[in-house]
Amino acid sequence: MSNLILRDLVKRYGDVEVLHSINLDVAEGEFVVLVGPSGCGKSTTLRMIAGLEEVTDGAVEIGGRVVNNLEPKERNIAMVFQNYAIYPHMSVRRNIGFGLKTAKATKAEKNARIDEVAGILGMTELLERKPAQLSGGQRQRVAIGRAMVRDPAVFLFDEPLSNLDAQLRTQMRLEIKKLHSRVGKMMIFVTHDQVEAMTLADRIVIMRDGHIQQVGTPAEVYHSPANTFVAQFIGAPAMNLLAAEASGDTIRLWNGAEVAVPGVTLADGRKIQLGIRPEDLTEDPGGALEGRITVAEPLGAETLVYVDVGGQEITATASGRNPPKAGDMIRLGLSGTDAHLFDADSGISLRQG
Ligand SMILES: Nc1ncnc2c1ncn2[C@@H]1O[C@H](COP(=O)(O)OP(=O)(O)OP(=O)(O)O)[C@@H](O)[C@H]1O
Ligand SMILES: [Mg+2]
Repeated sequence: MSNLILRDLVKRYGDVEVLHSINLDVAEGEFVVLVGPSGCGKSTTLRMIAGLEEVTDGAVEIGGRVVNNLEPKERNIAMVFQNYAIYPHMSVRRNIGFGLKTAKATKAEKNARIDEVAGILGMTELLERKPAQLSGGQRQRVAIGRAMVRDPAVFLFDEPLSNLDAQLRTQMRLEIKKLHSRVGKMMIFVTHDQVEAMTLADRIVIMRDGHIQQVGTPAEVYHSPANTFVAQFIGAPAMNLLAAEASGDTIRLWNGAEVAVPGVTLADGRKIQLGIRPEDLTEDPGGALEGRITVAEPLGAETLVYVDVGGQEITATASGRNPPKAGDMIRLGLSGTDAHLFDADSGISLRQG
């Protein structure tokens, strides 16, 4: 059994606390993605799990055992970095085999293991090549192979795809997902790309300034964001946030338009932010919001429009077949059932579940 628990994990560099009491419980075989803006503490968290960074306070537990004081190599963990350090003068076989350097096994056993891993990664034909003779994606696979060869209980990935071009990135993302279902090991994957997070994760951990904002499945964080930060971080283009206040059974938007939001009772006059995703804000001749399109981005199936509604910029979706143009007036409708409500000051969601 090897679940991973982070218990009140704290990291300080000198006087500066960069991680504040992180708590997380990852199940065996789970794929968890840590996501958040630059500097929020993703790599630090990963490095503390790996044992590359000292724990200031709290505990890292693997399989029920506190590993705070164990050396990285004693933790049964393998890590793949953004700048996958593969050795240019070594063949693919030796690069992958490097992960077995300290393992107690015969040369034949090691070679058999390298062949097995190369098979899984589809690199059998490439084993005698040098890194310079490989594509970027193949090099990345060598780095993953080196991590796999020791059969670790936990894989840690720190932005392993960020040096790849967009197409290769999508392809490697799929490969990592397949690899996960094949080997069934716990994987903790760091990225600041929310699409990568949504597509790979069983659960997403959204971080900001050394705090966890929300932990949930991709559907949970998308459909029930805990606060405005998560609401705007997950989903592209970002969710619109509109100033509003509660008024009887309805929500009155900043421009005076009223939206009925079923199942919500708030004190009259309570200031809120109403969140609405661009895909839930569509052309509607009787809609509550009217404005002029400042930018129209035809995407084929639909057109993204940026609309100036009384000085507030709103992102919405319009027809792909008859795309509107910049300068056109447009009327947008929204349904209260699609609306997210947040406290105006704290940004915390006012809906449960
Ligand atoms: N060795 C260090 N000494 C002092 N501060 C550090 C050190 N390493 C990291 N930090 C600080 O800790 C915070 C978290 O850094 P971390 O590298 O974990 O961020 P990150 O989420 O991985 O960001 P990125 O997406 O840019 O990789 C940052 O404010 C960073 O400046
Ligand atoms: Mg980082």
